[in-house]
Amino acid sequence: MTVARNPRFQSLPDHDAQAFTASITFDWRLLPYDIEGSLAHVAMLGRQGIIGLDEARLIEEGLRQIEREAETGAFTPRLQHEDVHMNVEARLLEIIGPVAGKLHTGRSRNDQVALDMHLYMRQVGHRQQEALLLLIEALLNQAQEHKNVVIPGYTHLQAAQPVLWAHHLMAYVAMLQRDIERLSEWLHHVAFSPLGAGAISGTPYPTDPQSVADSLGLDGVYQNSMDAVADRDFLLEYLSWASILMVHLSRLGEELVLWSTEEFGYVRMADGYSTGSSIMPQKRNPDVAELMRGKSGRVFGSLMALLTVMKGLPLAYHSDMQEDKEAVFNVVDTLDALLPVAAGMINTLVLMEDRITQRVGRDYTAATDLADMLVGRGMPFRSAHHLVGALVSRLERDHIQFSDITPDYLSEIAPDIPYEWIAQLTAQAVVSRRKQSLSTGPEFVQTKIADARRWLNEIRQGLGLV
Ligand code: ARG
Repeated sequence: MTVARNPRFQSLPDHDAQAFTASITFDWRLLPYDIEGSLAHVAMLGRQGIIGLDEARLIEEGLRQIEREAETGAFTPRLQHEDVHMNVEARLLEIIGPVAGKLHTGRSRNDQVALDMHLYMRQVGHRQQEALLLLIEALLNQAQEHKNVVIPGYTHLQAAQPVLWAHHLMAYVAMLQRDIERLSEWLHHVAFSPLGAGAISGTPYPTDPQSVADSLGLDGVYQNSMDAVADRDFLLEYLSWASILMVHLSRLGEELVLWSTEEFGYVRMADGYSTGSSIMPQKRNPDVAELMRGKSGRVFGSLMALLTVMKGLPLAYHSDMQEDKEAVFNVVDTLDALLPVAAGMINTLVLMEDRITQRVGRDYTAATDLADMLVGRGMPFRSAHHLVGALVSRLERDHIQFSDITPDYLSEIAPDIPYEWIAQLTAQAVVSRRKQSLSTGPEFVQTKIADARRWLNEIRQGLGLV
């Protein structure tokens, strides 16, 4: 038995138009969620006496068979059925006969596809939360492993003040923690069922949408049927979330690219995360970090695409909204591929401690601290800033670092500065003088690492991952 042609139309659909409007080439991945939603819907139809319990059972068995056939690869998408929903219905008809037609009672593809996307995205959210936690853990491990290493901190990409390498990494941990929190919030927004909306206005059957939502483990039902089928906020929120996450990952990628240059030489990617050049034998290219930066383009692009699709649509459903899928799936796939690789790259990143030690202190990043010491003796900060600025200018001209200063040299050019202070201008000493909980002071950074580990464990416990 095959699906009857729609008698509303006299002629067959134009082949190209059919191919153009179909979504089966990209919505097949919704199959498990489509079946999950249909099982919940048909059970409710049976409970409510809208269809016979025997019929509900028959449909359920048919759907389960389709599920098994999909798992073994026996059920594959057929292009003459425009989307995943029609493919399932067509196969169900082949398996159980005309009673298959009762599955769609009190439902439209408009609320059906919206439900599928909610169920799919819920899965995606949980999966990507776990993957992101592994990346956070990798950053924490790196921070912990090299807890005493000091690097120059930059503003305007000019060496500014020394900071712990761990502090720099913990800044990214803080960003990613916010990403996790935003994702957790979003998971609450996703947990609503649009079923019961039908095509737009509801249906005349005594359906029980709340019980369908309950059986799917969702928190509730949409408030308004028109909103239920026309809403793609949950997808826009996901894409916005992913875009902000990509801003963070892209910035980290950029720093890693920079730090792995010959000129910086702070880090080296493990062999597994570097590639050679096809022409220049000496090269080690940081491709993973580059693509962690570069993939942000498509993610932002997907957000812009869906915002643009949605912004002019009158209520309620329009085929335009079918465009949500490729935009969202592209981002889902991008993050699924990127997050584990990013975690692997960070976990195996080699910190070039010798190189950093040589570099640190060969700059004037302790200058602010020297001014602060003068302030400690009662000098107004502005005057201290001035005096140290003049000193640095002179040191630069004489090619002298703070650490090379001799007592005679100092008493000649800056008699206000006691020579014992010079020993306190090492990068390590500067960092150790930082006194705020959010500062790079080593004991505070250690506390933040411990706090973040506790946070990580609590989240994992909450997710049932430990
Ligand atoms: N393939 C469609 C989509 O992805 C499913 C909903 C179709 N509804 C309709 N009335 N044509 O949005």
